[in-house]
Amino acid sequence: MSEIMIRNLHAGVEGTEILKGVNLTVKQGEIHALMGPNGTGKSTLAYILMGHPKYEVTEGEVFFKGMNILDLDPDERARLGLFLAFQYPVAIPGVSVANFLRTAINSRRKADNPEDKGIPIPQFRTMLKEKMDLLKMDHEFAGRYLNEGFSGGEKKRAEILQMAALQPEIAILDETDSGLDIDALRIVSDGVNALRSDNLGVLVITHYQRILNYIKPDFVHIMLDGQIAESGGPDLALVLEEQGYDWVREKSNPVSA
Ligand SMILES: Nc1ncnc2c1ncn2[C@@H]1O[C@H](COP(=O)(O)OP(=O)(O)O)[C@@H](O)[C@H]1O
Ligand SMILES: [Mg+2]
Repeated sequence: MSEIMIRNLHAGVEGTEILKGVNLTVKQGEIHALMGPNGTGKSTLAYILMGHPKYEVTEGEVFFKGMNILDLDPDERARLGLFLAFQYPVAIPGVSVANFLRTAINSRRKADNPEDKGIPIPQFRTMLKEKMDLLKMDHEFAGRYLNEGFSGGEKKRAEILQMAALQPEIAILDETDSGLDIDALRIVSDGVNALRSDNLGVLVITHYQRILNYIKPDFVHIMLDGQIAESGGPDLALVLEEQGYDWVREKSNPVSA
């Protein structure tokens, strides 16, 4: 059973500390939602997990499969079975969604076995069709050029299809403000629900409580000022919906309240 274990993570950008001791463990088979007001460090955490060079870790570790992944390149993290959305955010001219996915799958197979000759094309096609059916996607989508002229919703679709095809053990999805219209929200939620299994652990980072109307997380965490201030079960999302974040702030910092 794989898990990602974030321990006392302190990190920042350009000398400003943003994460101030984050502790969080996500196991295969569990869905966790990380929520919190704007500017509390949620995306910073996502960027650090994906190895963005701009963010500097000053203390703490992130363990996955017995390794501190902070020492690994982003593609090494992916090959270990960690899926980080937006790892490949750019348009790649002339590369179709299908070719991109096949390359990604083959690079993961090669990491497991250097002798691997790659996934046979018929097997790849069958797998891709199965995944697209599971996600209720039009098969034509696989022939589109990756991210070229994609709408927000189509980018999300490519991301979720990538997750389905790569079969990661842990996936981290940062649902930033950009492009999260109701369509994109549904694509992400329906995708996560369709892929939900004992083999997949998901951390959904979101500014939007609304997404939790569609994805039922097993655990909910609230980030305030660079730390997880509160954790709980799915009920915590309901409390937030009714009461907002003020009570969490007061609880975690009674002096200033
Ligand atoms: N690249 C950056 N340069 C400077 N400050 C940043 C940068 N990225 C984030 N910050 C600051 O770090 C804090 C946390 O931001 P972020 O992680 O995006 O929060 P969230 O995703 O919870 O809204 C904010 O105060 C933000 O202004
Ligand atoms: Mg953010």
